[in-house]
Amino acid sequence: MAPDLENAPETLPGLAEAVHAGLPSAIADLSRLVRIPSVSWDGYDFAHVDASAEAVRALFEATGVFETVDIRRAAIDDGSELGRPAVIARREPRNGRPTILLYAHHDVQPPGKDEDWESLPFEPTVRGERLYGRGAADDKAGVMAHVAAVRAISDLLGDDLDLGIAVFIEGEEEFGSRSFANFLRENQTELTADAIVVADSDNWNTETPALTVALRGNVTFTLTVSTLGHASHSGMFGGAVPDAMLATIRLLATLHDEDGSVAVPGLVTHDAPTPVYTEEHLRDESALLDGVSPVGRGTILSRLWYQPAIMITGIDAPSVRDASNTLSPRVSVKVSMRIAPGQDAQVAYEALAGHLRDNAPFGAHLEFSDANTGSPFLVDTSGWAVADAKAAMAEAWGVEAVETGIGGSIPFIADLVEVFPEAQVLVTGVEDPDSRAHSPNESLHLGVFHRAILTEAVLLAKLNARA
Ligand code: BES
Ligand code: MN
Ligand code: MN
Repeated sequence: MAPDLENAPETLPGLAEAVHAGLPSAIADLSRLVRIPSVSWDGYDFAHVDASAEAVRALFEATGVFETVDIRRAAIDDGSELGRPAVIARREPRNGRPTILLYAHHDVQPPGKDEDWESLPFEPTVRGERLYGRGAADDKAGVMAHVAAVRAISDLLGDDLDLGIAVFIEGEEEFGSRSFANFLRENQTELTADAIVVADSDNWNTETPALTVALRGNVTFTLTVSTLGHASHSGMFGGAVPDAMLATIRLLATLHDEDGSVAVPGLVTHDAPTPVYTEEHLRDESALLDGVSPVGRGTILSRLWYQPAIMITGIDAPSVRDASNTLSPRVSVKVSMRIAPGQDAQVAYEALAGHLRDNAPFGAHLEFSDANTGSPFLVDTSGWAVADAKAAMAEAWGVEAVETGIGGSIPFIADLVEVFPEAQVLVTGVEDPDSRAHSPNESLHLGVFHRAILTEAVLLAKLNARA
């Protein structure tokens, strides 16, 4: 008989023991994954993403619980180009048990400059309670949390493991999940599940778990502003013709009000209460400098979870080092917008592009390229899987979970739920407010990692006992 954790709390010590015993190898395996620079963006060597897919495949295969473990790719959108390799594994349920789909991603963001890191991005390094490296948190720790939880539950239950388990470890989440729609169509049967654990989010802090129930969507594109047919000496024509930088600065200044809130018409705000979170807390977690004020309106968490935000995250223009006295004919910027739950991503893109066209200064020419959109998501928290997940968090952490939103995006969730509307979504994760995903000195808190693995092992045990 499979144990029922609710009626047999003695299962928790057994699992805690198995997870504790497996922690050193989980950290060692995670470190091996972090050494592989699996950046999924165009312009980076795909061989590394292939190598990380293979390393992840081998880890799931070695658990011995799956009937199939494969690496697969699908075409990007309608084109013939293939997306990055994903790992997909499955074991069918027995004795009427449910099936759970475990999701994480093995690709990472580019590391930025080595000199901004205290230890090199792809040399995993433990300092204090944290493991540093690109992907150490986002999201190779999510991958390893799944592997380690499966190892622990199978150690403890052996042949009594009746739960169906499907695995999908994506290889291009950080590049916009461009082949996911096709991947889902081609692998629908193997991805079918009653509930899905998305291990790619945050916790409230290192001691308090969070279940993420709201995610913003995103819209990104490159905007190129042109005003001149060629560059010229800035003393010759400066003052009589606009250089592209002048037009770009004035155009981008129209995106926000005086208080820094978004000033683009047609964007939606989601209306829901938010937990208490003070300005002091925000200052501390974001490292806001003394004297610099926050931006936006409404409660701070509504600004992060439920309102749109627009940032310029990159710029192609002459560097300061190479700045001769020249009028720039053309400037490109990367525009990155977050959109609120309830907003259609395509509609938001049109609203922003329309606003930019309507406000182009001096008749500057605008060109939009490389647009990418991802849908926001609100989790339905009424199902049994959410109740089990919150109970598992409370048991593993010894603290009740907080239901949170996140300002970031995991676009594949909305696509998945469109195809599987019945699937219950559980957004968990291994990050904490100091993980600094995407930034230099990204890190994983090893205590959080331990508790996240135990949470997932406890959750799997609960599901294994469900009819
Ligand atoms: N793990 C993040 C999502 C996230 C962000 C969780 C913040 C918790 C807090 C995910 O890997 C991510 O970075 N998503 C991208 C999506 C984009 C590339 C389409 C994002 O939010 O920028
Ligand atoms: Mn992630
Ligand atoms: Mn990320």
